[in-house]
Amino acid sequence: MSRRIAIVTGGIGGLGTATCQHLARQNCQVIAADLPHRSKQLEVFRIHTRDLADSIDFAPLDVSDDAACQQFAEEVSSHYGHVDILANVAGITRDATLRKMQRSQWDELMRVNLDGVFNMTRAVIEGMLEHGFGRVINISSVNGQTGQFGQTNYSAAKAGVHGFTMALAREVATKGVTVNTVSPGYCKTDMVMAVPEPIRQKIIDQIPVGRLGSPDDIGRAVAFLAADDAGYLTGINLPVNGGYFMSF
Ligand code: CAA
Repeated sequence: MSRRIAIVTGGIGGLGTATCQHLARQNCQVIAADLPHRSKQLEVFRIHTRDLADSIDFAPLDVSDDAACQQFAEEVSSHYGHVDILANVAGITRDATLRKMQRSQWDELMRVNLDGVFNMTRAVIEGMLEHGFGRVINISSVNGQTGQFGQTNYSAAKAGVHGFTMALAREVATKGVTVNTVSPGYCKTDMVMAVPEPIRQKIIDQIPVGRLGSPDDIGRAVAFLAADDAGYLTGINLPVNGGYFMSF
């Protein structure tokens, strides 16, 4: 079996890096796509992925730019071969209560967290259908399932991500392409560590396993859904939250 080609957006962030590592260990050639100017983050990423450097390349990409996503998908296909796996990990927060939220905080977040999923997925889906194999994994959030104080924008986008997952899963199910969501809880990433400490501690107190998640917890879940033999799992929302939110 030839190596699977995987794109991970937000690939050099906390969850993105772990996702790249787990996919590379699962015999994928990984392209970590992320904003070009995150040089400090890129340095950290290269250190953490040094032992997998043959299997992981970095490429600059802004997922909110539709034309750039189209072009990027074409370049990846011509350079590496057709794209088998897409992990939409890129995401930002712009936390504020609705009363204080600026229009720009809503718009910026939607452009990355929701438009980004649309842009990148639409850019690769045709190739997956043509080849009769594909794995799309979208990163949502527990806060898309429960709502979070100060996150009307983020919670709306993340709930929307799973709606997108379910709709697309139905459209491509007969063609060997699966589409799934992973909904992380609060994990040890820069994004979560930026939440004011007293608020973060209150949240940790409500996590049954008693700790923040690790990026590895998420990377492992993405790799599980990306596997060749995960073909009967589609349209699901896999919660990885230490029991912070439980539902049927
Ligand atoms: N529920 C109910 N009331 C709350 C509350 C909560 N969770 N948090 C704060 N309040 C109350 C406060 O007690 C305060 O009440 P008073 O006016 O009576 O004093 C009022 O609401 C205003 O609260 P703040 O002072 O916090 O308001 P602010 O404007 O200064 O800050 C905020 C608002 C920026 C949203 C801040 O509350 C915050 O950072 N919250 C954390 C949001 C969060 O959890 N983000 C997650 C980021 S990580 C992530 O998103 C990853 C993932 O997927 C899990």
